[in-house]
Amino acid sequence: MSTTGQVIRCKAAVAWGPGRPLVIDDVEVAPPKAHEVRIKIVATSVCHTDWECLYGTRKGMKSRPFPLILGHEAAGVVESVGPEVTKFSPGDKVIPLFLPQCGECERCQSPKTNHCRRNWANTQMGVLADGTSRISCKGQQVFQFLGVSSFSQYTVVPDTSLAKIRSDAPLDKVCLLGCGVSTGYGAAVKTGKVEKNSVCAVFGLGAVGLAAVMGCQAAGAKRIIGVDINPDKFAKAVVFGATECVDPGDHSRPIQEVLAEMTGGGVDYALECVGSPAIMSAALESTIDAWGTCVIAGWTETEAMSVVVEKILMGRTLKGTYFGGWKSVQDVPNLVDDYMNNKLKLDEFITHTLLLDQINVAFDLLKSGKSIRTIISL
Ligand code: CU
Ligand code: ZN
Repeated sequence: MSTTGQVIRCKAAVAWGPGRPLVIDDVEVAPPKAHEVRIKIVATSVCHTDWECLYGTRKGMKSRPFPLILGHEAAGVVESVGPEVTKFSPGDKVIPLFLPQCGECERCQSPKTNHCRRNWANTQMGVLADGTSRISCKGQQVFQFLGVSSFSQYTVVPDTSLAKIRSDAPLDKVCLLGCGVSTGYGAAVKTGKVEKNSVCAVFGLGAVGLAAVMGCQAAGAKRIIGVDINPDKFAKAVVFGATECVDPGDHSRPIQEVLAEMTGGGVDYALECVGSPAIMSAALESTIDAWGTCVIAGWTETEAMSVVVEKILMGRTLKGTYFGGWKSVQDVPNLVDDYMNNKLKLDEFITHTLLLDQINVAFDLLKSGKSIRTIISL
């Protein structure tokens, strides 16, 4: 029986307020409006940003509206499309995107950035283009996280925030390309433009950092130094291409001095994948003064990073990356191809697989550092 044009009743993990575990509830998902697509989420993973939004203490995150359905790293199948949607049809395999690519704005036209601002303000407020969400629970509007909300069996997204991918892609793997893996990999190959035979350091060996290690290796780096205060992460980093690993806790000196000594003056590229201002400064200072590049992939909304001017005056470059610099709609399908052609690893990130009603366990695993990525099947 077709569900096109009907309200769909399904399960979702609803965040009813900050600091409270998610609750599996029945929700109602309205049909898509103009330029919107309703998708059946098949697999989603849990990213730090989801956790941060619910339990985090960083200031900006407190203002997210509740009730809210989190989740933004996912893959699914198009169920139906709204009026004026031309690029998607029911049955298409897709990856929803928290970063749109409208293709029309000044930023989309520029090769210098991937930061499309289409629907940006609404997305931050948890609503779609018309100022409302398509999801409700017990008669109450439920806000959408980053315009996605993948902790729901169905969701509605703008047609500019959706990448169509090849039909043979396994959704329970390629969902990882919706956020963390693409961010880390792109930080190295796209934003950082890591060069062959270079020396790299990657700070933080979670999913983003491991993907950055993978990117450095793909770019042909000759040394890739993984840095983390949890040595349990080192074995995995080696799988992704790290040539050596360092625990700052093993040294009495600042890590930037340790790295400078290890490399005879500093690394060519440092990739910060933690989201800590102190580590960002250390990453910058660990690069060689004359030409080192530091890329910030870690995310923080309100905390300030301090940069000593002298540290960049001799020729260092400090860059930030959002979603790895990828133009989301056009580049994500290519990353899926790279995975299918064995040029990019995904399976190795997956440490756990759970069902939707175990989602709070996935949050615990992430917070305790026991998981890299947990895949939730819906
Ligand atoms: Cu994320
Ligand atoms: Zn745009």
